Amino acid sequence: MNYRHAFHAGNFADALKHALLVRLLRSMQRKETGFVFVDTHAGRGAYDLERAALGDSRAREPEWPGGIGRLWGEAGLPPEVADYVEVVRGYDRYRGNLTPEPRFYPGSPRIAKSLLRAQDRMELWEKHPDEAAALRAEFEGEKRVSLHVADGYGAVRACLPPPERRALVLIDPPFESAGEWEEVSRALDEGIKRFPSGTYAIWYPLSGRVPAGEFLTGLGLGKSPCLSVELTVDPDSPRIRGCGVAVVNPPWRFDEEAGRIADYLAIALGRGQVAQGSVRWWVAK
Ligand SMILES: C[S@@+](CC[C@H](N)C(=O)[O-])C[C@H]1O[C@@H](n2cnc3c(N)ncnc32)[C@H](O)[C@@H]1O
Repeated sequence: MNYRHAFHAGNFADALKHALLVRLLRSMQRKETGFVFVDTHAGRGAYDLERAALGDSRAREPEWPGGIGRLWGEAGLPPEVADYVEVVRGYDRYRGNLTPEPRFYPGSPRIAKSLLRAQDRMELWEKHPDEAAALRAEFEGEKRVSLHVADGYGAVRACLPPPERRALVLIDPPFESAGEWEEVSRALDEGIKRFPSGTYAIWYPLSGRVPAGEFLTGLGLGKSPCLSVELTVDPDSPRIRGCGVAVVNPPWRFDEEAGRIADYLAIALGRGQVAQGSVRWWVAK
């Protein structure tokens, strides 16, 4: 467990994941009934971008300038991207940043909390003790937030089906090991069996090491509608070409919103003309 999300906070992958997360949360809120947001790999909740550039033992090239940094001062963003940037701005201001650059970046738990209504709640799972301690400090005294310092793959069993009968589950592992794909598949399979009507979003990298296509075709989705949203920023990169988010039971018209987000981010964040965004249905509605 060497992965630290702080180094990656606010990068292109976070921009895609978090812009889509904002859409999913807003869709859940089209109905008055409350829902639970389950974050199986929550991270520390929020990130200080200035400190994120300081590695454990040496300075690191910060990644946020290639992500949120390129969207920050942009006029004319598509509404779905503008909504995400506004959520980030809101958190940055709340933490007291007075500079024109972004400084405090909200992770998925903070993004969700900033949108949650009185009838909604969230369950956060984080296994790494240091990250979990920071997460606890971030949400100290806040209501409707439960924190579990444990293996996030256990969340589907512990949290589903929820009493509200409505759930959005984010599965966002570090993909440090090749076996992670199998764990995700297993957790998703169990989640769908326990609570077939839930919405599940799974982040995954596009890299040589990991067969994203195989993973998506191999998911035991049955009749559950599923689409993937992919953003390729650097097709020639030997490390990570881009990333994707698979969404099981996507809300109404999410495919259109996601398409606008991915297309715009490819133009704004892509390195080279072959950068692209795409949306593909694996099991149609
Ligand atoms: C990609 S980061 C999460 C980022 C966060 N979801 C966000 O969007 O802001 C992955 C996190 O998973 C944690 N982690 C790794 N293995 C885990 C496991 N089995 N269960 C729960 N958390 C785990 C890591 O410590 C890391 O904080």
